[in-house]
Amino acid sequence: MRIEDPKLAAGFLELGVQLQHGASLCDLTSLGIGGTTDLLPDLLNLLDAQGIPHKFLGGGSNLLVEDDELPWVVLQLAAPRPDIVLEGNFAHVDAAADLGRTVTYCAKNDLGGMEGLIGVPGTVGGALRMNAGAYGMQIGTYVREVKLYRSAARKIETLRGDQISFEYRHTSFAPDDMMLSVKLELPSKPYPEILKGIRICNEKRRASQPLGQKSAGCIFKNPPGASAGRMIDELGLKSLSVGDARVNDRHANFFVNAGRASAKDMLALISDVRERVRKSFGVILEFEVVVWNA
Ligand code: EPU
Repeated sequence: MRIEDPKLAAGFLELGVQLQHGASLCDLTSLGIGGTTDLLPDLLNLLDAQGIPHKFLGGGSNLLVEDDELPWVVLQLAAPRPDIVLEGNFAHVDAAADLGRTVTYCAKNDLGGMEGLIGVPGTVGGALRMNAGAYGMQIGTYVREVKLYRSAARKIETLRGDQISFEYRHTSFAPDDMMLSVKLELPSKPYPEILKGIRICNEKRRASQPLGQKSAGCIFKNPPGASAGRMIDELGLKSLSVGDARVNDRHANFFVNAGRASAKDMLALISDVRERVRKSFGVILEFEVVVWNA
């Protein structure tokens, strides 16, 4: 969607908002798939008053966006500097901060716990929203407070950690809540010890996941007690493709954009694989990837 009204564009400018016309979500998501729209930082009231639909974009690393012109404007927070402030065992982190940088910054200051998240692409806000985790840990464990914009109430609120439920790749946040910042409480650990843990996780990830390719991480959540990747692999579906959308041959729960895949290709591949798993294992795989379609 494009903001064409010059008066509205001037109104945004007055509020200090940067308006980008025709930004392509293809360049802003890790899958490298998606149509075009305008990008705006935080301007919700003005948008609501004008009846302009919007969506919130984090790091775009767990997102599959439909092709062509998109019917919304997309809001992305600009990170303040500094985006991480430490106070004893607490880290106050902006939602727009890069997750990997947050893990290493805290580590260098002898704050550990998040070693497993090294190598998970995206922002801290995105990690919070889905309770990102790996190698036996999840970010929710360390959350003490979250500041967020609640679209339903149209106001900024601060929730305590115990008011939020963090489950496997799922949280109690509403789909249209926008994460603003978080207060994490991290255990003290000497940097060399954290670094050792980080290296182990990095190695495991490098050995099992396609890191240099365009993907959205795992496409499906793991069903209780099983691995979606292993099930897809057992069906011999590695390298199955629709156009340039392909089941990865290193990890079968990663579907990569091997060239110029469209969202249509990727969605067709996803439903084909899902159907084959349902037929063979009687399991309906749940999406981990977030799909934006109109
Ligand atoms: N496996 C196969 N073939 C495959 C993939 C996996 O046989 O193509 C087997 C592995 O050999 C292993 C088992 O399945 O025995 C589990 O594999 P892995 O350790 O890679 O874990 P996963 O369950 O597939 C989960 C998360 C990953 C996370 C890793 C490490 C989900 C959906 N996936 O993968 O998270 O990095 O554990 O903790 O929860 C993500 O969420 O996007 C993601 C990549």
